[in-house]
Amino acid sequence: MSDRFLVAVDGPAGAGKGTVCREAARQFGLAYLDTGALYRAVGLHALQQDQWDPEALAQWAAQMDFTFRDLGAEVGFHAFLDGVDVHEQLRREESGVAASKVASMLPVRAALLDFQRAYGAPGAAILDGRDVGTVVLPDAQVKIFLTASLDARAKRRTLELQEKGESVSFTQIRDQMAQRDERDAKRSHAPMVVAAGATVVDTSELTLPQSVQTVARIIARQRDAA
Ligand code: DC
Repeated sequence: MSDRFLVAVDGPAGAGKGTVCREAARQFGLAYLDTGALYRAVGLHALQQDQWDPEALAQWAAQMDFTFRDLGAEVGFHAFLDGVDVHEQLRREESGVAASKVASMLPVRAALLDFQRAYGAPGAAILDGRDVGTVVLPDAQVKIFLTASLDARAKRRTLELQEKGESVSFTQIRDQMAQRDERDAKRSHAPMVVAAGATVVDTSELTLPQSVQTVARIIARQRDAA
């Protein structure tokens, strides 16, 4: 087992992973990485270049200059590529769909592994994604699978996108999410599954503060037991 205190949070889009991890990172003094942003960065590059060759994308991914920075409580964490804030571009639904496509490519996944495993070293870290507890950090002291019903997740994501001025409908988002869930869960490489030993937290009926509180309790219990 790693000497570092590591927290792995996996689950489908819209379950609240980002907010929960951001708050837990601040509360427990952990480095935070949204691993989905790595796949979104590769997806965005694939879209911009119209380049879908797995080896070429993996090569680009292995050397991309990616940083994930805390811009404070008001703004939150943003991803940077070559020092440029690409947060808004990465959060667009089209980047999410492209991310899901490149995430099914084994060379791309392999190219992103070292970066994820070394994140925040030698300090403690919290990473969220789909395969953090199963593949990236199988020795993590805390493993959580954060989930919610498809309708609850689609409702949250629709509101989030509409608040940003994107004209999207609930059914459109729900259908895209269902497709993405299926692609993430059924792919042959590192599919989204509940890791052995993970605590499943269903946030369908929880507010965000309640989700944060639930996850913080689980982390505190493990940290105190370590
Ligand atoms: O969490 P997200 O929506 O930002 O993730 C974007 C896509 O990246 C998602 O469809 C699945 C993929 N992904 C992955 O395969 N493995 C991860 N650890 C994180 C994300």
